[in-house]
Amino acid sequence: MGWEFNNNKGTFSLKGADDNSYLYFPLTNESGIMSSITPTLNGDIKTDQNSFLMQPVSVEDLHNNRSNRNFWLKIDGYGPWSVTGNSARQISMKYTGDKKIETADVEAGFLWHKVIRKNRKLNIKAEITNFVPVNEDQVELMKVTIVNTGQETIKFTPTAAIPVYGRSADNLRDHRHVTSLLHRITTNSNGVIVTPTLSFDERGHQPNNTSYGVFGRCSDSSDPVGFCPVLEDFIGEGGTLDWPRSIVEGNVDFVKPGFKYEGYESIGAIKFGDKELKAGESISYIIVMVIDHNGKDMKKYIDKYCSEKDFDRELNENKKYWQSTIEQLTFYTGDETFDNWMKWVTLQPVLRRIYGCSFLPYHDYGRGGRGWRDLWQDCLALLLMDDKNVRYLLYNNFAGVRIDGSNATIIGNKPGEFIADRNNITRLWIDHGAWPLQTTSLYINMSGDIKFLMEKQSYFKDRIVSFAREIDNRWHQGMGNKLKTEEGQVYHGSILEHILLQNLTVFFNVGEHNNIRLEDADWNDGLDMASEKGESVAFTAFYAGNLFEIVNLLETLRDKENVTEVKLLEEIKVLLDTLYNPVDYNDVTAKNEVLNKYFASCKYNISGNQVTIKIDQLIKDIKRKANWLQEHLRENEYIGDNKGHKWFNGYYDNKGQRVEGRFEKETRMTLTGQVFTTMFGIATGEQVKNIISAADYYLYDDGVGGYRLNTDFKDKDIQLGRCFGFAYGHKENGAMFSHMSVMYANALYRRNFVKEGFKVWHSIYNHCLDFDRSRIYPGIPEYISQRGRGMYSYLTGSASWLLLTFATEVFGVKGYYGDLRLEPKLLKEQFDEEGKATIGIKFAGKRLTITYVNPQLLDYDSYKIDKVMVNDEIIDYYEDKQVTIKREDIEERDEVIDITVRLA
Ligand code: G1P
Repeated sequence: MGWEFNNNKGTFSLKGADDNSYLYFPLTNESGIMSSITPTLNGDIKTDQNSFLMQPVSVEDLHNNRSNRNFWLKIDGYGPWSVTGNSARQISMKYTGDKKIETADVEAGFLWHKVIRKNRKLNIKAEITNFVPVNEDQVELMKVTIVNTGQETIKFTPTAAIPVYGRSADNLRDHRHVTSLLHRITTNSNGVIVTPTLSFDERGHQPNNTSYGVFGRCSDSSDPVGFCPVLEDFIGEGGTLDWPRSIVEGNVDFVKPGFKYEGYESIGAIKFGDKELKAGESISYIIVMVIDHNGKDMKKYIDKYCSEKDFDRELNENKKYWQSTIEQLTFYTGDETFDNWMKWVTLQPVLRRIYGCSFLPYHDYGRGGRGWRDLWQDCLALLLMDDKNVRYLLYNNFAGVRIDGSNATIIGNKPGEFIADRNNITRLWIDHGAWPLQTTSLYINMSGDIKFLMEKQSYFKDRIVSFAREIDNRWHQGMGNKLKTEEGQVYHGSILEHILLQNLTVFFNVGEHNNIRLEDADWNDGLDMASEKGESVAFTAFYAGNLFEIVNLLETLRDKENVTEVKLLEEIKVLLDTLYNPVDYNDVTAKNEVLNKYFASCKYNISGNQVTIKIDQLIKDIKRKANWLQEHLRENEYIGDNKGHKWFNGYYDNKGQRVEGRFEKETRMTLTGQVFTTMFGIATGEQVKNIISAADYYLYDDGVGGYRLNTDFKDKDIQLGRCFGFAYGHKENGAMFSHMSVMYANALYRRNFVKEGFKVWHSIYNHCLDFDRSRIYPGIPEYISQRGRGMYSYLTGSASWLLLTFATEVFGVKGYYGDLRLEPKLLKEQFDEEGKATIGIKFAGKRLTITYVNPQLLDYDSYKIDKVMVNDEIIDYYEDKQVTIKREDIEERDEVIDITVRLA
């Protein structure tokens, strides 16, 4: 039995939650405190790589580590009992004693976590609620409520015990002991403060101002009676955190406020006065866990949060805030569970914006922040949820583009903050240049802001040049991270120019089969060992799609804004070969020469001169390139097996060998190779049909939630990348990898293969719902393991793509250069009993509730748009399958607009 939703607000319950491993839940706020919490209150609390209040945990620590949030009751006549289940006795009873004596259920919502632990013999119920207040503070709050559920009076001594790690994650295995010598520990009226004198981390030894605090108070307003802030005193000689002698034997003095200790591992061990609870009575304890980078005034947190009233008020604020965040985009279908599940998916891009790809237990790599491609793809979803800040965000992101078309790889915390490579990562991911256009194009269609393309933005500059093949030794950090002209002026080019450079440079960067070189990897980070001869046919198709899209955008600029010519940097001329010196696109060497010429012209700086180019000429050049790519792919990369299946080859390996097709030992196929050819119309309709049947035959596996990323490449000689060192069926080697699967669904919907697209995401959803197999909380995981477990919960780009697919394809809310175009692709099972399906979405600054009414419950193939109403007004311009409502018609109305589209 798995979790169940309790209402239509996404709140869910999981009975016996502590009978599952690897489960964790995020608690966070926009100020960047990031916690993870498990059913036994394990997990950690931090604000960045160098500031962990609790010891950093990876997934395996979730069951092994004893440094979790704990709260002890020393019960008269029984002894120590942990409200979080973390006592040696409770843990052993779980396996040897009567299992039913104690149960732990989890209830959770946006974004709070409650554990309800009941002990049948002791007649005690403990409810522990944790959350992070939604304000500027970096604080996690916890309330422990003890209820006497029996007839007899119970008596106990309560003690909170939160181990304070208080330093950088680096110190877990790098000077763990030495860094404890930096600890300066004090007690005040309500708890323990740890302020290390220095911080030892990658930046070297820095003076430290950050303080870590754990404070507490009882709901009867009484303050704690003592503290035991030194960890070795708390556990006692030979003791452990799950059987601490200070609790078990009670033979350690708990000190008063105003004590100081220097140089020890620390714990927020806070003892409260003895308590008696009569039958039915309850009492609560509020615990405040703080990270403060200024560290001077820690008392303010006690004043602000240390009472039940404060706790309840902040919890209410928290619920309101997150509820309103996810209500920016809502779905109502015939499946209430699905609608609730999508709420968790809606939260995921927000979580990734805050946590990056580093700070949850599976994500135990990196040092915070996200990669370039994630930045752009997460914007897809954020764009659908918040149309106010997106322009600013996108505009600033373009400042990360280098003049060679590549981009900064270290992304700062603020929009537009990119940091020069400090780790000597001279790598090039060939997919990076492809994503910004997709996001920009969605933005332009949703907003109509085509003039965005003409905005001026700077370029990123560091020592990495010419697609990371060369180093600019003249550049040093003091010169700043903006590209300058020969005269030393910061150069600004249009957003269009940035996009053109990203897409034109790769066009000439081809390998021996005339596809785009794979370089150091593409979307699949694991394809990192084919930089010499590898080619990514998959991304060749993506870039071809982009070139077609650039043509569309340029035509719109011309037709809507009467733009007849554009100004571009002079150096770009060589890449617009058709206009100046046409190159034979079948000639790989000639193409590479063009690229080298361009790289040579902008290695150190650029002239700063601009040329004026007629828009029609530009369109002509780009069309020629796009058409050539399309033909090339259709003719050369459409392959098959010996059974009549046909699909697109996605890669060449480092020996220059074609990766996919029928080989001596096995047939090899990738999903990636199919997704972009399908998505961008490179594959013909007939070819898409064949792709679907080949993917069903070779990649679909019901046991793992759908389409695998690839078949098992048994031939170990294949040279592509590290992921083929992973066991087959895991992560980037053949798992059902949600990100690519959802993009496959998106591609199928775009090509009007609606039933087939439905099958892709629906099988993932079904798998996630099957808790016995997936064992994850609601939401889409990064991938499904070979055994069916959902992996790397919460922080995955697949959530953005699922939202995008639902909003723009399934519910068909497409912008069309600022107008609202509706083109639903709902199947009959997605309507409720009355034939209704609704999406709530922001558009043109208004909150739209768009309801499709399908009274006869017809299927996608059979329905047509029959009637369209905006509020109560009938709109009479529509085609069979889509309707376009002018932006003005929306803008002139009130804040909240109801649109009803009848299908018949
Ligand atoms: C992760 C990375 C993403 C990468 C993918 C495949 O996917 O975040 O950048 O493209 O692995 O290697 P995600 O976590 O978004 O599902």
